[in-house]
Amino acid sequence: MTQTIAVIRGDGIGPEIMEATLHVLDAMQLGLRYEDVDAGMVALEKHGELLPASTLETIRKHGIALKSPLTTPVGEGFSSINVALRRHFDLYANVRPAKSFPNTKSRFGEGVDLITVRENTEGAYIGEGQMVSEDGQIATLTQKVTRHGSERIVRYAFELARRTGRRKVTVVHKANILKSTSGLFLKVAREVAQEYADIECNEMIVDNTCMQLVMRPEQFDIIVTTNLFGDIISDLCAGLVGGLGLAPGANIGADAAIFEAVHGSAPDIAGKGIANPCALLLAAAQMLDHIGKADAGNRIREAIVATLEAKDPALTPDLGGSGTTMSFAEAIARRVAG
Ligand code: NAI
Ligand code: MG
Repeated sequence: MTQTIAVIRGDGIGPEIMEATLHVLDAMQLGLRYEDVDAGMVALEKHGELLPASTLETIRKHGIALKSPLTTPVGEGFSSINVALRRHFDLYANVRPAKSFPNTKSRFGEGVDLITVRENTEGAYIGEGQMVSEDGQIATLTQKVTRHGSERIVRYAFELARRTGRRKVTVVHKANILKSTSGLFLKVAREVAQEYADIECNEMIVDNTCMQLVMRPEQFDIIVTTNLFGDIISDLCAGLVGGLGLAPGANIGADAAIFEAVHGSAPDIAGKGIANPCALLLAAAQMLDHIGKADAGNRIREAIVATLEAKDPALTPDLGGSGTTMSFAEAIARRVAG
């Protein structure tokens, strides 16, 4: 069956890195079709809204979207489109792999190969129960953790471990202090872990996790955690492997999945043709894994590694090359096709 993918070209460097990514996908001749949909500033200009209903409908129809970064306008009345998409499709699992690449600026060598699985729909990010006292001196925030939400994310992490041959899941929490919310998450995680005797499970408090990640990142395989901790930890992990230019992420729900780069629309380099396309390309590789084309996903990852290993001059400046977004994509496309 031909898979059609909803493509969001996005703002800033978005269209440039999407063109590069589709160039590589086309070189592999996977029989994918694309349907362009608008979101972000482009959509605001064309349709008068940041996230048109037709965009949501197309994503729902195909179940898969590849998304470039969007600029969220600063100011009243604009809420994050990314958060809106996650809510709308109940994309509960935020999956962010971090694997060392050769010849990057990372100071952690090549021993990192881990995946953060972050709960994406509840925790501190529910946007409810926020209060600032009338005199502006006190602010409070409600967190929500549910058995259902915890169970499905922990199960996702263990299933991911089984599917990808990974051996260990680390449950990251702060149940010693946040006894209600983090406590419930940990309790449910322990129950779910019982069902996966073949996968090692350990528990780690979030602050210690941060230190351990920097001291001995190679001890981690899959990390599963709640929304706020996962947001912070996954950026830390991107830093372990060479930064935002190489960090992809997937937002996965039962009926839809959206694959994207972790970085933003980089207005400072937009239009210059020098954006590194790798993060979006690695997100496309995750997408291929998700639609049952893991061989093709691996080919993309291997081609990126080979291009970095060769110190190919086609690499973009952030990776020490003198190339452009498209020269980099062409260097990768030659390797995936060959
Ligand atoms: P950013 O990630 O766009 O840029 C941070 C720095 O990294 C900049 O110096 C940029 O030039 C560099 N950079 C980012 N991606 C790069 C790439 N592929 N190649 C080379 N260099 C790259 O973060 P910033 O500046 O905080 O946000 C800019 C806009 O992006 C904002 O409007 C923000 O709301 C939006 N944003 C959107 C996201 C999304 O749609 N998923 C995620 C994060 C931010
Ligand atoms: Mg974040």
